[in-house]
Amino acid sequence: MSKLLPNDREGGLSPLVMRNVVAIDGPAGAGKSTVAKLLARRLGFLYIDTGAMYRAVTLKALREGVPSTEDEAVGSLAGKVSIDLVSSGNGLRVFLDGEDVTEEIRSPEVSRHVSYVARIYAVRKRLTTLQREMARSGGVVMEGRDIGTCVLPEADHKFFVTASVRERARRRQGDLRRQGHDIDLETLVQEIEKRDFIDSTREVAPLKPAPDAKVIDTTGKTVEEVVNLLATEVLKRQ
Ligand code: CDP
Repeated sequence: MSKLLPNDREGGLSPLVMRNVVAIDGPAGAGKSTVAKLLARRLGFLYIDTGAMYRAVTLKALREGVPSTEDEAVGSLAGKVSIDLVSSGNGLRVFLDGEDVTEEIRSPEVSRHVSYVARIYAVRKRLTTLQREMARSGGVVMEGRDIGTCVLPEADHKFFVTASVRERARRRQGDLRRQGHDIDLETLVQEIEKRDFIDSTREVAPLKPAPDAKVIDTTGKTVEEVVNLLATEVLKRQ
């Protein structure tokens, strides 16, 4: 029996519908963040990156020297930290206990540990509660792994964005190069496969499409094509 989060219906359909709420889920490097950000801008909605929140808790654990496998200690840290997502001219800024950690949470070290931290029930419970509060008044595009299934099963628009592992690794390599990290493709393929495996087999809120999500394979598609596709879907059902 898997542990349920407060609002988790194990992927079942909710009788309630939240209007103007777009849930985007998918595996590492599928281009969700880029697409979600642009879609939010196009719709005039708020963009919420839930992965950044898991990354912030991971950074906190690394800084405190708490191993990501120590569920209780990491869970208790997650209960105490303050995490704020602030929209600014140059995108979303992430604050951990008042400090801007937007760049630091993207480091390869945080990426290596984040999926272990994200398995921890107490971490998910705290972040899920925060995420629901953020979406309460609607007009949001929320992006992550469990948004359509657990965080906002009532969302009126749900997408599962994916791409082949190799394409995802290539995109990630480009992102990292722009940030000054040079990592070879095979290493990234292995890291992405490992993260996908942990994310989709964990006990609490595993990565999977919601039964009512529209699955979008972005392999070979440009960012603009994907954003257009999603925007058309949302607008035709407004
Ligand atoms: O951007 P990238 O695809 O690398 O991942 P991310 O969205 O920054 O999320 C980093 C990690 O946080 C994921 O691999 C998951 O382990 C975890 N995560 C999660 O468990 N649930 C979410 N709603 C969002 C992220």
